Parts: sequence; structure tokens; C-alpha cells
Amino acid sequence: MLNPSMWRTSLIIWFLCVLVCECLPLSDSDPPMHGEIQSPQYPRPYPPNLQEQWDLSVPEGFHIQLTFTHLNIETSGGCYYDSLTVLYNEKVLGKFCGNENSTDGHHPGYEPIFTPGNKLTLIFQTDDNNSERHQNVGFSAHYQAIDIDECSAPEPQDGSGPLCSQICFNTLGSYLCACHHGYELRSDQRTCKLSCGGGIFNEPVGHLFSPGYPNPPPHALSCQYIISVESGFTVFLNFSDNFHIESMDTEEGPNCLYHWLEVTIQDKKPTKLCGETSPGLIATNSNTVRLDYHVDGHGLSKGWSLDYSTHRVTCPEPGNVAKGRVTPSLTEYFYRDHIYVRCDQGYKLVMEGQEIKSFSTICQSNGQWHLPLPECHIIDCGEPEPLLNGGVTFLSGFQNQYLSVVQYHCNEPFYSLLGGINVSFTCEAERKWRSNNDVIVRPTCLAVCGPANRTHLWLSEDSLEAATLQNIPSLGKCC
Ligand SMILES: *[C@@H]1O[C@H](CO)[C@@H](O)[C@H](O)[C@H]1NC(C)=O
Ligand SMILES: *[C@@H]1O[C@H](CO)[C@@H](O)[C@H](O)[C@H]1NC(C)=O
Ligand SMILES: *[C@@H]1O[C@H](CO)[C@@H](O)[C@H](O)[C@H]1NC(C)=O
Ligand SMILES: *[C@@H]1O[C@H](CO)[C@@H](O)[C@H](O)[C@H]1NC(C)=O
Repeated sequence: MLNPSMWRTSLIIWFLCVLVCECLPLSDSDPPMHGEIQSPQYPRPYPPNLQEQWDLSVPEGFHIQLTFTHLNIETSGGCYYDSLTVLYNEKVLGKFCGNENSTDGHHPGYEPIFTPGNKLTLIFQTDDNNSERHQNVGFSAHYQAIDIDECSAPEPQDGSGPLCSQICFNTLGSYLCACHHGYELRSDQRTCKLSCGGGIFNEPVGHLFSPGYPNPPPHALSCQYIISVESGFTVFLNFSDNFHIESMDTEEGPNCLYHWLEVTIQDKKPTKLCGETSPGLIATNSNTVRLDYHVDGHGLSKGWSLDYSTHRVTCPEPGNVAKGRVTPSLTEYFYRDHIYVRCDQGYKLVMEGQEIKSFSTICQSNGQWHLPLPECHIIDCGEPEPLLNGGVTFLSGFQNQYLSVVQYHCNEPFYSLLGGINVSFTCEAERKWRSNNDVIVRPTCLAVCGPANRTHLWLSEDSLEAATLQNIPSLGKCC
């Protein structure tokens, strides 16, 4: 059985535990934002021979505000016997004893005590004098996390400069640096540098200018701008008239010695620009241009600005094809434009000695046509069919080429042409010899008054009857 006094003590210990437990952090990484601490057995007099320590902490970026709601500890000179010591980083912030009215003790009062960091240690020490007799109840205090205004902290003495070189925002538990317009935060997240705007420009048009333009930058600069557009397009730089980059007069004339804007185009020697004359329009003939602007810490350059635009790459005039036509006919041909070649009637497309059915070519991103133009060669109908008991004579033309005309004849006097009609054949665009007579598709030599051999009748099926009955009077007469 517990006696009443022990029971009360254990109740107080339980109560203390609840108080402390309530304030325990949910996890080690997440210390509480506030809490309460009391001397053992508070509000009853504290026991003798104590050596209690409390290590308080709040989240990083905060500091602790400690406020006593009550303190009554046995008074002694220098708080020699009983004391509550408040420490930060092993440095004593205060050693307290007495009560609010005592003259020889050291009472903290009711004004809060601030710690420079997020940790605090309290040590409560009592001697072996029985405090039940003097009824000192100890202390009760409350602490809470207070956001540190890092921004208002004095500049560190080590010469590293202010926390933020331009703008400081205090946030709960931390702070953020920012920069004025035209500046950007360095990777150290605290100092600012003039914004070069830099980076890659891949839009078809754009505007670039040197930092601070048209005012000179306050200090040294090294900025890089890359204009990179789709291949098949070329970049034009159009510098505004207001151009000012320091140039030095040297023995070899003006020289971009300390300040320059270097224009680098692939496969070409980089050019350094300086002086006070705007370069005006520069056709780079490239889809990628790099600009490096360099200004050292001395001298004066007000800078430059430019508009850039992009144009489709042009391909050369494709030229003409003899006996053919190139379509469409344009004044300029650009990247992705197609052209076609068709030959005149009686001519065929030939590329590298091979006949091709059709031809088209495309203007490529490199400004070259995908294929060279083909040629148009005259077609031919091949050797005319030989004629049994006869022969063939060339009337006009050359090598059975288009529009050549041949005429058949029979071996006179024993054979004569069917119907005595002279039939000529012309080489046509379809590469066939074509009769000038709608009825007689092929010539035939008939034996003069000899037995007619019907197999020699080279007539088309359709015209056979008509030819036999109407157009060939000699046929019936002779045989
Ligand atoms: C201190 O003095 C005030 C007024 O004289 C009194 O009301 C108070 O109870 C005293 N406190 C203690 C702890 O003795
Ligand atoms: C114990 O406390 C009483 C009452 O405050 C005091 O008179 C006495 O001197 C103390 N004794 C010691 C050893 O501190
Ligand atoms: C270049 O820019 C100027 C204005 O700064 C403008 O008047 C001119 O037409 C531009 N030239 C070309 C080719 O775009
Ligand atoms: C047929 O052609 C031959 C040779 O060209 C010519 O001598 C003859 O008179 C022609 N006959 C007819 C009917 O045109």
C-alpha cells in the first residue's frame, strides 16, 4: 500500500511525465515547437540532492524563447547552494535562485530569455538541506521556438559579405536570397551576378542585348548566348545602331583587346566585334551561332542589342533540262521545296545512263538539291519489222528515233504491196511504229498473179473484212 504522501508523489511524477511526454517530439528529426519544464514535484517543494538536466531543442532555423512563470529556489550568494543554470552551447546564460522579492538571489524575472540557436540546456541543482522546511517550490517555465530573422543578423566579421548580397527574405525557420531585376542568383544561393540572359535561344526570332544595355555593366562580365534553330534555317543577326564596345588602338589599328563580342559560326573562324559602329545585318548562313560577350573590370562598353531572325535555306537555281521542263519555276528555291522534271513528247528521262519513270528532287537543309537533274533523251522505236518478200526504206529521221518515217516496198515485179498502196510508218511517242493508214496495220507483199497465201495478209482482225472486200481491188482481180 502506498501511504498518502508517496501516493501524492507518484501522482506528481505521473503528472510531470505527462507534461514532458506531451512535449516529446514525434520523431527525432522533428523537435517540438514549444514545451514546458518544471522542477521535480512542482508545485510542491523540490527534494534535496538534485542534479537534473534538461536538453531542449527546437527545429533548425529557430531559436528558443524561455519564459519563467514562477521561480522560487533557495536563495544564497551566487546561488551557491541551490540553483537553476541556463546554458547555451556550454555558455552560461544565467544562474538563478531566490524569488521575485529576494535581494541576495538572482531571479530571472518574467522577461523571456532568448538563445542564439535552437538548443538550450537547464541544470537544476540542490544541496542536502531539506527544502520542505523553507518551502521553496522550484520553478516552472515555458519555452517556444522563435523564428530567427536571419536577414537582420549583422554581417559576419570574416569578410564573406552579407548573408544575401541583394535581397533577403526571412522565412519560417530559414531565409531566401533574391536579386534585383537584371541580376540572377549564383549557385551559392546568396550572391547575385548580372544576368546574361544567356542560355539557348531556339525560337525563330528573338531579341538579345548585353546586360544593363544601354548602360555599361558595373563590373566584369562573361556572357554566352547560343542561337540554335532547326537545321534548314539560317540565322540573321540585325544589330541595332546603338553599338558600343570598347576597342583599343594598337599599332595594327583598332583591336578588341579587353572587351569584345565574339561571333562563332560552325566551321568558320570566330570574329571579334568591337568599336562604335554597328555591324548591322550579319547573314550567318548557319543555324547555330554562339555569341560570347566579354568585358573586363576596366574601361567602358555600353553594350549592344540585336534582333535575330531565321530564314529557310535556299538551294541554287536548278537550271534547265534540254528537251524537258523543270517545274515549278520559281525565283528562289527554299529548304523542303520540291521540283519535278518532265521531258518533251518523244523524250525519256535518263539518269546516270538509266531510264527512269519520273523525277523529283528536294531542297535539303544543307542548301543542296537531293539529286542532280536528269537528262531527256530522244526515244526510238527499234528496228522496223522486216517484210517478207520486200524491204524497208528510211524516208526521214535517224536511228529509228522519234518521228522517223519508214516505208515498206515489195520485191518487184513478182510481189507488190497489198492494194498497191504505199504505207509509211512513223515512230511515235509511244515507241511504236505507226501506220499512216488506219486500215493497213502491217504491209503485205502479194505475189503478182501467184497463189494468194492468206497467211501473208498482215491485217488487223477488225479491218480484215473491210480490207478484203473494199480496199483491195487487185486481190480479187489477180487471184
Ligand atoms: C513578493 O512581494 C509581493 C509584494 O510585496 C508579494 O505580493 C508577493 O507574494 C511576494 N512574493 C513572494 C514569492 O514572496
Ligand atoms: C538549511 O536551510 C536553513 C533554512 O533556510 C538555513 O538556516 C540553514 O543554514 C541551511 N543549512 C545549510 C547547510 O545550507
Ligand atoms: C534591322 O533592324 C532595323 C531596326 O533596328 C530595321 O529597321 C531593319 O529593317 C532591320 N533589317 C532587317 C534586314 O531586318
Ligand atoms: C510508192 O512509192 C514508190 C517509191 O517511193 C513510188 O515509186 C510509187 O509511185 C508509189 N506509189 C504510189 C501509189 O504512191
